[in-house]
Amino acid sequence: MANCNGCLKENIDGFCSACETKLFDRSKVPGQLEFNWNDIQDRIMGQPAGFSISGVQPKGFVGRDKNNLLAPNRDIESMYIIKPFLDSRKTLFIDSPANEHLTMTMAEQLFNISTAKCGFMKFANGEPAYLTRRFDRDKEGNILRQEDFVSVLNAAPGTNDHGLYKYNSFTYEDVGNRLNPTDQISFIRILIFNFLTGNGDVHLKNLSLLESVDGDMLLSPSYDLMNTKLHINDPKIAMNLFKEMERTKQNLLTATYDYKIGDFIKLGKRIGVRDRILLSIEKEFSTAKADMLLIVDKSFLSDVGKRKYKEVVELHYNQLFRP
Ligand SMILES: Nc1ncnc2c1ncn2[C@@H]1O[C@H](COP(=O)(O)OP(=O)(O)O)[C@@H](O)[C@H]1O
Ligand SMILES: [Mg+2]
Ligand SMILES: [Zn+2]
Repeated sequence: MANCNGCLKENIDGFCSACETKLFDRSKVPGQLEFNWNDIQDRIMGQPAGFSISGVQPKGFVGRDKNNLLAPNRDIESMYIIKPFLDSRKTLFIDSPANEHLTMTMAEQLFNISTAKCGFMKFANGEPAYLTRRFDRDKEGNILRQEDFVSVLNAAPGTNDHGLYKYNSFTYEDVGNRLNPTDQISFIRILIFNFLTGNGDVHLKNLSLLESVDGDMLLSPSYDLMNTKLHINDPKIAMNLFKEMERTKQNLLTATYDYKIGDFIKLGKRIGVRDRILLSIEKEFSTAKADMLLIVDKSFLSDVGKRKYKEVVELHYNQLFRP
C-alpha cells in the first residue's frame, strides 16, 4: 500500500476517506483515471486564450458525467482542473505533478496555509497528473468572483516584454498593501513558505483575490505552489519585496539580492503587521525544516526529485536563517 493521493497518509490505496470527502464530496475515486490527457476535450495549451483560466502550463478541465465523477469533459456541477507533466525539455519534468501536489500539501499541513484542494493522480496510461478542485465555484456550482493581481493592480504588459510585467511592474509590497490585516499576515507567511520551497514563480497572476460568502474580496486559497528549482534554473524569488525594487533596479530579472528572514519581517512591518506576530512567524518557520524534509520523503516524487527538493530547502533555509 502506498500513501494517500491527497493527504499522503500512510498505507492507503488511492484516497483516504477524509480526502474523498474534501475533494470529491464522498464519492469513491481511484487514484488512476480512466482516460488520458489526449481524451480531455477542454484543454488549454499554455497560452491564455478566451478562458478565464490562463497560465503557462497546459491544463484541462474535468467534470462529472452522469455517475462518473471524473470524466474528460466539462460540467458546471463538479469542476476540476488537471495538469499533466511539464514539457520534456525541463529537467525532472515527469516529477512536476508530484512536486505541485507535495508543495501544496506541505503548505496546508505544516503551516495551515489555505490552499486549493488537490490530489496526485495517474492517467490511464500511467502518466502522472495534478488534479485540483476549483475554488471559484461554491457548493451549488455558482461562480465566485476571482481577480488576480495583474487585474487588481492594473498591471499592463509592455511592448514585447514577453510577460515580464507579471514579475517586474509591481512588488510584493504593492500586493500586501491591497490586503486586509488578516490576509496581510497570511501573505507574509505565504512568501516565506514559497522562498523556502524554492518557488521562483509567485508573480502577479499566481496571487488572487476571491469573493467571500459575504461578498468581500479576500486573498484566495494558494495555487500553483511548486519548487520550480527542480525543473528550471530561475531566480530565488519572482518579484521584488520592496517598492524600491531592490533586486531588479534596471528591470534585470537575473540580478541577485541575498534575502534574509529580516527582509520578510521588514516587509511585514511596512505593510502594518504587528511586531509580536512577525516574531512568532519567524520562530515558526525557523524551526520547521525537519518537518519539511520529512514530508518530502512521503511524496510521489522520484528519488532524484526528493533529493533535489530537500537540497533546495536546505539551501534556502541557510540563506534565510544563517546570520
Ligand atoms: N483550484 C483552483 N480553483 C480556481 N482557479 C484556479 C485553481 N487553480 C488555478 N486556478 C486559476 O487558474 C490559473 C492557472 O493555474 P495555475 O495553477 O497557475 O497554472 P500555470 O502553472 O499554468 O500558471 C491561475 O492563475 C488561477 O487563476
Ligand atoms: Mg500560474
Ligand atoms: Zn488522505
